[in-house]
Amino acid sequence: MKPLHDKIERNIGLMGVLVALAISFGGLVEILPLLSQTATTQPEPGMKPPTALAVAGRDVFIREGCYNCHSQMVRSLHEEVMRYGPASTAGESVWDHPFQWGSKRTGPDLARVGGRYSDEWHQIHLRNPRDVVPESNMPGYPWLAAQPVDGAEVSAMMLALSRVGVPFSEQDISGAPAVVQGHSKMDALIAYLQSLKLPKPESTPARAVPVAAAPSN
Ligand code: HEC
Repeated sequence: MKPLHDKIERNIGLMGVLVALAISFGGLVEILPLLSQTATTQPEPGMKPPTALAVAGRDVFIREGCYNCHSQMVRSLHEEVMRYGPASTAGESVWDHPFQWGSKRTGPDLARVGGRYSDEWHQIHLRNPRDVVPESNMPGYPWLAAQPVDGAEVSAMMLALSRVGVPFSEQDISGAPAVVQGHSKMDALIAYLQSLKLPKPESTPARAVPVAAAPSN
């Protein structure tokens, strides 16, 4: 009798089916545990749901295709951590629907950009990047300043997000129009950019800043 592998290797259809089975099994073994692990399903400690204005800004980020040039995922490589800050974790993205990790970096990663610049800097930069970074090839988005945020739209978006697990309260959702009232899409986008940073766990005291030793002479 011929060995089994001989039969399989001579029958391309059977071989294909078995290869597909082997790959599916390998995939499931890698993917299934992730669906139940705390590290991939629970938010990072201290994480709060985004504000209504940041939710509106996130929508502008997606609408304008900022993800085509900017990732939001710091990889755990030394040079990335040195440049951007702590590596991203899965827990940071559990409320990010659809997630904005991205895979293209024409511009820098934005996962830790919150607090790096003032709101005024962002305003100038978003209107015309070359006013603050002369060599920039990022396009300007001046029209965003003239577009008001639609409160009803933000409420509807927050309701949809709450259905997929973002813990907005009913007041957050019904109060959204009042929060975004009078703000432009530019303000919203800036609020979103400023929110992109690691959450600070409330229980952890602020890290003490070491005081430089006084010069001895
Ligand atoms: C064609 C590619 C491209 C697109 C599209 C783009 N950017 Fe940029 N962005 C860049 C480049 C290149 C830089 C670096 C130069 C600079 O600071 O302008 C940059 C820089 C930035 C910075 C400063 C980051 C830092 O750490 O210094 C922010 C914030 C930013 N972009 C936000 C946005 C937002 C928001 C959008 C969408 C509305 C957007 N970008 C769309 C290419 C792009």
